[in-house]
This record gives sequence, C-alpha cells and structure tokens, in this order.
Amino acid sequence: MRSRLVYKSLASEEFLPNQDLFEMGESCSRNNQDKDITGILVYTGKQFLQVLEGPSADVNSLFQKISRDERHHSVELVTFEQDVEPYFDDWSMRLVDLYDLPGEIRQFFTRKYEHEEEMVIVPKRLLDVNALLLDVRAICKNHDLLPFVKKTAVAG
Ligand SMILES: Cc1cc2nc3c(=O)[nH]c(=O)nc-3n(C[C@H](O)[C@H](O)[C@H](O)COP(=O)(O)O)c2cc1C
Repeated sequence: MRSRLVYKSLASEEFLPNQDLFEMGESCSRNNQDKDITGILVYTGKQFLQVLEGPSADVNSLFQKISRDERHHSVELVTFEQDVEPYFDDWSMRLVDLYDLPGEIRQFFTRKYEHEEEMVIVPKRLLDVNALLLDVRAICKNHDLLPFVKKTAVAG
C-alpha cells in the first residue's frame, strides 16, 4: 500500500542553506529512487516542509530516520494518508528553496502566505499547507516559469 506523509520542522542553527541543502538534495534523490519514494522538500529559509510518498513501510521508516537527523528539530507530523494515488511522483525528491527563488516568484509566495523577514512561514491550517504544497508543485511543473528558477534553488 502506498502512503503520503507530510511533516514540518525547523532547520538547525548550523544548517548552511546553500551547501548543506544542495548536498542533502542529491543524496535524498539517490536514496529515494532506490526505495521508490517520491516527493518534495521545501525549505523556507528557516523551516522544512516535506512530502514523502511511497510504500507505507518505507515511508514510515524513512520518516523515523529523518526525525532523528540533527540538521533539523521540532519535527511535527502534518498528515499521514494511506492508500493514496501519488501526487508528487515526478520527482524522487524535488528540493525547493523558497528563499532563493527569483523575485517575482518569491513575492508571489510572500503575498499569499504569512511571512517573516521575507521568509514564508509554513501555515498552521491544513488547507493552507496543502495550498502551499500545490503552489510549489505548480511552479516546479510550469515550464514557462522554470527558466527563472535557479539550478541551486530547485534541484532533483
Ligand atoms: C529535512 C530533511 C529531509 C530529509 N529527507 C530525506 C529523504 O527524502 N530521503 C533520504 O534518504 N534522506 C533524507 N534525509 C536524510 C536522512 O535523515 C539521513 O541522513 C539519510 O537518509 C542517510 O541515512 P543513512 O546514513 O542511515 O543511510 C533528510 C534529512 C533532513 C534533515
């Protein structure tokens, strides 16, 4: 059975956005491909919001492993759905750094969602979390917008 798990967390103080994020994206993609896990990892400049989709047992054990990772803390489960059609299956793990997106796209997010010091805050209400995830997905899929998106900001 396939599941979809969404969680949010806070990046650790030592986390270096550009370098650490890029390396993490590369290794996540490789590992997830082997396990048939797909999804996206959104970084706001402060928080992570990640979707993991795949076989339930693998999604669960990966989430346990990720929860123990010291590169972030305050991990909070947002949703866990079982027996679902994958929705983020274009990517083994698409990494999106909202803080590092070109001006117009960044402004789209800061106009629509609560933010602090130009950084989007992961919404509290579930519908708004889903809206944010769908907006990120749309931007990743929209070929017209992709040329504006820096390679380091969106990888995978
Ligand atoms: C925010 C965040 C998201 C992560 N996402 C994944 C992921 O999607 N897939 C993955 O294999 N590891 C992910 N990791 C890394 C894992 O925590 C772990 O370091 C990695 O799977 C290597 O584990 P291993 O050394 O036991 O092989 C993530 C880590 C963080 C901090």
